[in-house]
Parts: sequence; C-alpha cells; structure tokens
Amino acid sequence: MNSTAIRNRGIEFGESKNRTENFLSAPQDSRRSAFKSCSDVNLSFRDRKAGGEKFAMLTAYDYPMARLLDESGVDFVLVGDSLGMVVLGYPDTTSVTVEHMVHHCRAVVRGAKTAFIVADLPIGSVNTPTLAVQNAMRLCEAGAHGVKLEGGVSRYREIAAIVEAGIPVMGHIGMLPQRVLVEGGYKIKGKTPTEAQQLYADAVAVEKAGAFALVMELVRQEVARKITTTMAIPTIGIGSGPDCDGQVLVVHDLVGLFPWFTPKFATPRAQVAGSIREAVQTFVQDTKIAGGLTTEQNTLTQPPGANPKPVSSSEPNPATLQKAQSSLPADAAPARAASAASFLQSTRTYSTKSHDQSLALEKSPMPGRGSLERKNNQSLCCGNLNSVQGQIEPEAAGC
Ligand code: KIV
Repeated sequence: MNSTAIRNRGIEFGESKNRTENFLSAPQDSRRSAFKSCSDVNLSFRDRKAGGEKFAMLTAYDYPMARLLDESGVDFVLVGDSLGMVVLGYPDTTSVTVEHMVHHCRAVVRGAKTAFIVADLPIGSVNTPTLAVQNAMRLCEAGAHGVKLEGGVSRYREIAAIVEAGIPVMGHIGMLPQRVLVEGGYKIKGKTPTEAQQLYADAVAVEKAGAFALVMELVRQEVARKITTTMAIPTIGIGSGPDCDGQVLVVHDLVGLFPWFTPKFATPRAQVAGSIREAVQTFVQDTKIAGGLTTEQNTLTQPPGANPKPVSSSEPNPATLQKAQSSLPADAAPARAASAASFLQSTRTYSTKSHDQSLALEKSPMPGRGSLERKNNQSLCCGNLNSVQGQIEPEAAGC
C-alpha cells in the first residue's frame, strides 16, 4: 500500500461503509464504537481525562488473556513488545519483530471485544515516517485500534505521520525498553533537572504530534505528576507513581505468571505460576503414584455417596480409563460395566464445573470452538461407555 493510499484510507476512516475498513469498529464493541476517526479518539480521551477519569491498561498476548482482561473491564489492552520477554523467552524486547506483533495482535483481537486495543511498534519498525506508517498499518490490519511507539522529540515525525494516516498513536517516554542495551539497564528517568527537562520536551512533542495518550515508564514521581497536570492527553504510568491519569502493567507481573522476575514497582495480586505448579505437581504425582490413573478414577474406589475432594478442573482422560479397564481380568465385563456407570456418575456428580463449562461453551460466541468443545465433551462421555463394550447404552446413561 503506498503512502497516498494509506493517507486516503486515513481520510476515509470515519466514512467507511464497510465496518472492517474502519480500524475502530468491531461487531461487539460498546465503548470504542463511538470512535469514528483518529481525531475522535484524541478528543474522546482528552475529554475523559478532563472529566477526571482514570485509565486501566494491561498487556495481553493471546486470546484467553485478552478475553479475561476485556471481561474484567480494562480500558486498554496493550499487545506490548514485552511479549519478547514474558512469552517468547528473550532477555529483553530487542528481538521482537513486526511479524511477532502481528501474530499475537490477531489473537488478542479475537479475545477483546470492548477494550481499546493498542499494539506496540517494535524496535526498528519506525526508523522513518514511511516505515512507521507501513508497520502501523500492518498492526491495524491485524485488528489493533491504535499503536504505541517509544520516543518523544526524536520520534515527532513518525508519530505525526502515523496520525496523519488516520491511526491513533499512544506515545511512550521515560525508560525505553527498546534502548536497554544502549543504556545498559532499566534506569529511572528524571532524577536530574536536565533529564526532567528532556522528559517534559518529549511529552510536549508527543502531544503536539497528535498522540491521544502517553505512557511514562520509570519516570520520577514528581516529574510524572508535573507532566500529567500540564498535558491535555492522558498519561499512563508504569513505575512512575500514582499521579498519572492511568496505570499500565505487564499482566504477568500483576498475576504472578512470570515468577523468575517481578519489577519492584509491581505488586502481584495473584500467584498464577504457583497454582500452575501445584496443579502440575498433583498431576505428575497422580500419574506416577497411581500408575496412570487420574484423580477422578481414584475416587471410584470410594463407597457410593462418599464425598471425594473436588477435582473438577481436570477432565478424566479416556486413554487412562481405557488402560485401567483393560487391566481388569477378561471375565470382568460386569465389573467393567459397574465401573463405567460409577465413573459416569462420579463425573456427573463431581464435575459440575466441567458441565457448566460445556453449557457455557454451547453459547460460545466462537461457533467453531464452542461446538468442537461440546463435541469433545460428548465423545469423552460416550467414548468411555464404548470402552466398556456397550454394556451401557449411551442413551440409557443419558448421554
Ligand atoms: O511492552 C510493554 O509491555 C510496554 C509496557 C510495559 C508499557 O510497553
């Protein structure tokens, strides 16, 4: 797409009859459907700041996390290039490419239906205004509603070009992770008057270039406060104190999903990594100690009516059930039937969550996935019955 086409697309932006042509529209959105154009976005966020609103932004890199954040009411979902560190396993963000960002952006877009989705322009993708516009277009074509790029005064032309092309831009000043190798670490900015002056100039440049919001990373609290009170666009802080108009965190730091490193400014509100480890260790133990039986099958040894510990989060594995059944003597068909009936009963009784989940999946807005899950659920149920040689007809068991 040449630059004229991009510019035209920007101009058409608010008038497009085709909803897919408009970066800001999405079938189920409510908050963001009000936006018709880039300047609309800009005005809207300025107004919301003027009205005293605070903004919550978290990162997401895939469908389930995006959907969870969206359902929990964040204003912005950021497909950050922190992707490189917390998902792809690189030591910093300097290996992230536009292709990585596009791939993950698409997944996030499928999950977030209400929040405003911002995607990071990674290192090397905004070296000239033309390149910046081309790459911003790619992220928007992947479904992002706006892009974020690092740099203030030094990126004035690139920000202005992207805005001119009709794409909303969020600025990012202070500590710039894409410069971590050049700077030799993640250092707080604004400690000296010269640094504070530079930050102020950067913030003004970003606003003047037409950005609708500004991330300030690791900016000294007093400086962040002063910039926030001076700017008309919202400031979103990370490690920059409480006085910004909003806060952003890498979601892994918020939920304890990257336990090997947590930045000092982040307070984890959950211990997801711990929960995963616990669940996996239980599974490993169950598998090894019980000789391949799942926990559910262990509950079959309990007398009817006994109340086993709730284990609804793990579905019984048909393969291990089959293995357990085949270990019975050949003449144990009645025992197998009884065992299967009991298994079915226990699955129904103790796995209410998975039943509820399957009902929820029937209503899934993703028809393909919903029906697939439902099918799996059914085949699990009936498959187990088949594995006991039809001793119980699926219909008779209510499948
Ligand atoms: O990449 C990212 O996650 C970010 C946030 C830390 C602001 O830029």
